Amino acid sequence: MEEEIEVLVAGPEHEKYVDTILDTIAEAAKVRGTGIAKRTHEYLAKKMMEAKAVIALTKDGRFAGFSYIETWENQQYVTTSGLIVHPDFRGKHIAKRIKDMTFTLARTRWPHAKIFSLTSGAAVMAMNTALGYQPVTFADLTDDEAFWKGCEGCCNVDVLHRTGRKYCICTAMLYDPTEHLPAKIADDVLARIRKIDGKEE
Ligand SMILES: CC(C)(COP(=O)(O)OP(=O)(O)OC[C@H]1O[C@@H](n2cnc3c(N)ncnc32)[C@H](O)[C@@H]1OP(=O)(O)O)[C@@H](O)C(=O)NCCC(=O)NCCS
Repeated sequence: MEEEIEVLVAGPEHEKYVDTILDTIAEAAKVRGTGIAKRTHEYLAKKMMEAKAVIALTKDGRFAGFSYIETWENQQYVTTSGLIVHPDFRGKHIAKRIKDMTFTLARTRWPHAKIFSLTSGAAVMAMNTALGYQPVTFADLTDDEAFWKGCEGCCNVDVLHRTGRKYCICTAMLYDPTEHLPAKIADDVLARIRKIDGKEE
């Protein structure tokens, strides 16, 4: 019988899994021979505290998978990052379930934000496409320095530097919520709405 896996928004009680998560990410990057943004224990633990992380666990508490979300440029952009499924649990659509949960979390918390993904993984590209992301150039992503700092630990960062942040090994994909609306609201009306909303807050 196939083992049941639970996919849930992580909380402080899951901090005990952080080192396993970091080891699993590092091991997978080694196997793939690709670059990977470096994260610390404190960073992932904070994501759990802030309800910005999703974890997959077996019924008896073994780690199966993980991902987290982060906002950039005053919440104008969101990323879902660090997707990892433990090798023992791959090929069972757990990544898809985690991705669906992080995507829903991002859309629920920041409904106006654009969601983007910078990835070299075919599985991630397939899942992004299914959710409505489009491939874009790096110019369409955030200018937030804090986001790009995450690339500094990657073994391919020299390419990013050499091209003035225009190109790299990863493919950029963007989900723009406005493109999924049936009609377009004029920019001057949007500016008026922002003003009204700003006054009401
Ligand atoms: C990539 C990874 C997260 C996939 O996890 P998984 O639970 O086995 O994936 P799923 O079973 O949910 O598959 C999701 C989709 O991706 C596809 N897929 C899975 N692995 C794939 C691969 N290596 N190449 C191409 N497509 C792949 C699946 O066919 C599925 O698509 P479908 O629904 O159209 O059939 C997992 O292999 C992993 O952790 N790898 C190492 C870390 C990594 O590469 N992370 C991505 C960072 S860019």
